[in-house]
Amino acid sequence: MASERIENLVRQMTLEEKAAQMVQIPYAQTGREESLRWAKMGAGSFLHVLGDDAREVQRAALSSRLGIPVLFGIDAVRGHALNDRATIFPTQLACACAWDREIAKDMGKVTAREVATDGLHWTFSPLLCLSRDARWGRVDETFGEDPYLTGELAAAIIEGYQGGDLASPESIAACAKHFIAYGEATGARDAYDSSVSCRKVREVFLPPFQKAVDAGCATFMTAYGSIDCTPLTADPHMLRDILRDEMGFQGFVVTDWSNVTSLVRNQRVAKDADEASLLAALAGNDMMMNSPEFYESVIRLVKEGKLEEAVLDEAVRHILTVKERMGLFEQPEKTGKPGCIGCEEHQQIALNAARRSITLLKNNGILPLKKVKKIAVIGGNGDDIRAQYGDWTYFTHPEPIPGRQPVRPYTTVREGLEKLAAEKGIACEYAYGCGPVPSEKDDLDAAVKAAEGADAVILVVGDVVSQFGENRDRAELTLSGKQLELFALLRALQIPIVTVLLSSKPLVMGTIPDETDALVAAFNGGAHGGQAVAEALFGLFNPSGRLPISFPRRTGQVPVYYNQLPGWHGGKYCDLPNTPQFVFGEGLSYTDFAYRDLTMDAETLTASVSVQNVGKEAGLETVQVYFRDCVSSVITPVKNLIAFRQVALQPGESQRVTIQLNRSDFSLVNRQEQRVVEEGEFTLMVGRSSRDEDLLMVNFTL
Ligand code: GLC
Repeated sequence: MASERIENLVRQMTLEEKAAQMVQIPYAQTGREESLRWAKMGAGSFLHVLGDDAREVQRAALSSRLGIPVLFGIDAVRGHALNDRATIFPTQLACACAWDREIAKDMGKVTAREVATDGLHWTFSPLLCLSRDARWGRVDETFGEDPYLTGELAAAIIEGYQGGDLASPESIAACAKHFIAYGEATGARDAYDSSVSCRKVREVFLPPFQKAVDAGCATFMTAYGSIDCTPLTADPHMLRDILRDEMGFQGFVVTDWSNVTSLVRNQRVAKDADEASLLAALAGNDMMMNSPEFYESVIRLVKEGKLEEAVLDEAVRHILTVKERMGLFEQPEKTGKPGCIGCEEHQQIALNAARRSITLLKNNGILPLKKVKKIAVIGGNGDDIRAQYGDWTYFTHPEPIPGRQPVRPYTTVREGLEKLAAEKGIACEYAYGCGPVPSEKDDLDAAVKAAEGADAVILVVGDVVSQFGENRDRAELTLSGKQLELFALLRALQIPIVTVLLSSKPLVMGTIPDETDALVAAFNGGAHGGQAVAEALFGLFNPSGRLPISFPRRTGQVPVYYNQLPGWHGGKYCDLPNTPQFVFGEGLSYTDFAYRDLTMDAETLTASVSVQNVGKEAGLETVQVYFRDCVSSVITPVKNLIAFRQVALQPGESQRVTIQLNRSDFSLVNRQEQRVVEEGEFTLMVGRSSRDEDLLMVNFTL
């Protein structure tokens, strides 16, 4: 129910002002003059406008007849990274490796403070799509493959963004995107059709978004794609019946970029802008991102009696209510915390996130590096801050600016290792060797020469931004360029090799997993990713990352997410082992942990297990809790994550970990699309990863 102020405002608004309030204008693409014209007309929102430009737009808006403040949105999805002075965090995928709600919340808090200090109100984050096929271009932006982990981290970052009070100077509105099942398109093709049933949407893809609603997320974003050939932008069942009526969403819905235009141009479910605008308005989209034609169309539709003005009134109420909750009518410009953008406190929080994201996948004892006199650091991604950042920074958005120079502080892997090596009196030589894409800099011979005589080689492999992101899905996930060839040449030297994967997603790594002496997944670690890698390799901290996503052995093996369904004849491809290269939840440590005495009280639904640090280093263990419904009315996954706890243990220390579960944790969505718990036998599994061999299991009956 809108407030009296909002109802009063809606009553005063003309049809034209209502239509303008539903329009979101991209400042960078629209330009200053046209943007100011839209602001004076009462456009509801602008995106990707910073600093003084934003302040000028706001002044223009406040000078309009009703002076309704503009809402400024931006893709601050891994820190306020479109601003080159801001704190640049690891990507969501890298942060998800920490399995830590506080890390996600702190990233949200710092991002909100910096976005607000730039006078902006709203971030198009978090992204809640699930990465179940790594060929998709946007895996880096997700929290990985699992609904439970994604939902937990999403709720945490939303709390960080929004705080307890949206009107606080340091809070910004969050945006749960992209609703819904955007990452599940056939063939992992960006914005393409998903063939998932509504039942499966409810069982797999909806739970993280429900947690976003429950966390009070102020806005949602409609996905580009379609489900069973109905575009989400034109789907009132998803946007009204499910999102609002069932899930209880109270904020406003913004479409993704030009979704209304796309109904005509790409998806061809509307013959012109008027038809597209009618579909979008009736479906429950409140604000249209970068489809300015919507303005004229929707005015015409109302005047021609094809659309009730009440539909616009409802959308405008949703938008104005969020603006009111943000206190914009009293304070149109966010003030944030002056001087905080890029400050040392924030950099330390980002460095901590980068450290916690480091995931050790193999170690034959070479790590942490000791007794080395010379190391060789090899590989283009080892000294390329653009590759280390990945997507959604000032290098890539709102528009890539050729020749744009990086702004300190940041540390590449090479720089991090050179610094620590110098402090330890260790020689450190760098050679480019090759990068993920062919370059005139490629020189494998020089790399081999640099490695000769070293006590250890650190080879950094991965991908670059031209190989992922929107519209950039990959048909082949194998390490590209000459990276595998470079590994083989270095391997032939018989020098211990530490391979570091600095990439946007899981990649297929040929013989590397079997032949490298150690393997570290760093993904896109942000400004301090290189320092975190270097410190982990030298043992300045004990890596504790756990994979939020599975790694295929070959591209053709996807999807390899852990919560597979039973029933596959043979359970494997005839030319591959039946397991992923690395599994969800996997990660090693410089110490080791032992699990024993798992119990499950079926009455109280309390699970308990003893975890002991049986190694020589202090370490952080992520205790993972999965379940299987032994017999169910629909086929259910071989396991599903339902809880996790982290325990810090000193060498030799043991702790009894008790996890209180709820009956609803063991639910499924039945054929009638109802979420129910079916009585019968269940298996509870607790351990260090989703691999059966890593799990203690106990059966119980509900
Ligand atoms: C993009 C993305 C979306 C982003 C929006 C604004 O196309 O799909 O995630 O928030 O447009 O930049």
